[in-house]
Amino acid sequence: MNIKISHLSYTYAMNQPFQYEALTDINASIKSNDFIAIIGQTGSGKSTLIQNLNGLLIPTMGKVEVDEFVIQKKVKLKNIKQLRKKIGIVFQFPEYQLFEENVEKDILFGPKNFGFSEEQLNGLAKKSLEIVGLDETFLKKSPFELSGGEKRRVAIAGILAFDPEILIVDEPTAGLDPQTANKIMELFNHLHKVQKKTIILVTHQMDDVLKYANHVLALKNGKLEAYTTPIKLFMDDKLMQHLQVEAPILLKIAVEIKKKYPAFNISKVRDIDSFVQQLKDVI
Ligand SMILES: Nc1ncnc2c1ncn2[C@@H]1O[C@H](COP(=O)(O)OP(=O)(O)O)[C@@H](O)[C@H]1O
Ligand SMILES: [Mg+2]
Repeated sequence: MNIKISHLSYTYAMNQPFQYEALTDINASIKSNDFIAIIGQTGSGKSTLIQNLNGLLIPTMGKVEVDEFVIQKKVKLKNIKQLRKKIGIVFQFPEYQLFEENVEKDILFGPKNFGFSEEQLNGLAKKSLEIVGLDETFLKKSPFELSGGEKRRVAIAGILAFDPEILIVDEPTAGLDPQTANKIMELFNHLHKVQKKTIILVTHQMDDVLKYANHVLALKNGKLEAYTTPIKLFMDDKLMQHLQVEAPILLKIAVEIKKKYPAFNISKVRDIDSFVQQLKDVI
């Protein structure tokens, strides 16, 4: 499924004292099977943007098209349920997503809502938990007795359970220990590479942007300031300064190495392994 965002603006509390324009005239297309990172400082409009992609919020101006679905003010959105089945969102704060009395019910909430049959539901919660690295002992636990990392995983499992084509994850690794964060990022990478899902990742982790994303969309004060490849963004000092974002340290080192070894190919650096490979090739 392709997403086309045209002249999207979004204002909270329209015509009220606290009226606030969170997004202004955003234009962007997201192709099927891409891995996109959305970056920008807190308050730049990232969460607002993703909620406009599946009709949770309706654009104040402009529109969002997802294949045949059109999300636009005053135009009744047909088959919103189908749209929501195709675009799964894991929210920034998973505790807002978990509300059933136990993990199993929570995970099956989406699939049931989308009309999965008893046969399809059978074993689905257990299978979804396995994908996110939790065993079946979690099925009967209350969401409230889980750690932060476990809550995230259960929230992700609940979305994966109905197998959306597009997976949107809002700061999924914030506040997690590095090991758990890595595992979760590898899971998204796997879903992207093996299951061919479109991934839209909201993040502050520039190392993850470099390693996993094909494209990066940068917001500042609700405006789209850049939509390019991670490497192009990170190498653009002026833009980086404007966005007040720090490039991954690995790239900074790569730039220094290139000064001495011009053959060093910075554009192939995505993580430690590819960095070391480039280094071996030139020295
Ligand atoms: N429900 C709301 N009512 C009013 N303003 C909001 C609401 N949600 C978010 N905002 C404001 O909109 C702006 C963008 O918020 P958000 O999309 O959550 O940013 P980000 O996810 O990049 O941190 C912020 O200034 C925020 O305070
Ligand atoms: Mg947010």
